[in-house]
Amino acid sequence: MTTVVEVCREEEAPAPGQALSVVVGDIPIAIFNIHGELYAIGDICTHEEFPLSEGDMVDEYTVECALHGAHFDVRTGDALSLPATGNAGSYPVWIEDGAVKIELPA
Ligand code: FES
Repeated sequence: MTTVVEVCREEEAPAPGQALSVVVGDIPIAIFNIHGELYAIGDICTHEEFPLSEGDMVDEYTVECALHGAHFDVRTGDALSLPATGNAGSYPVWIEDGAVKIELPA
């Protein structure tokens, strides 16, 4: 069972190379735009809970946590380097009827 939530209007989506932080219920989610494709992962570094949306992209699909430098894959939420080890979570995200929508576990 899943829930689909509109998180923002299409025009509010992040520009290519940028990230947007949204909170759905009590879940912080970082939405990344990579070459026009959106990806959504949990916006909490699994090391010490810093927002991943504040990190810099260090290669095409890798964001670096701004606090201690752990790398995460924005497609999967997987931690790719220490000091983080846990997956940040990932969510299906798409644009429909002018809105950015995310699918969450119910
Ligand atoms: S809080 Fe992200 S690497 Fe430490």
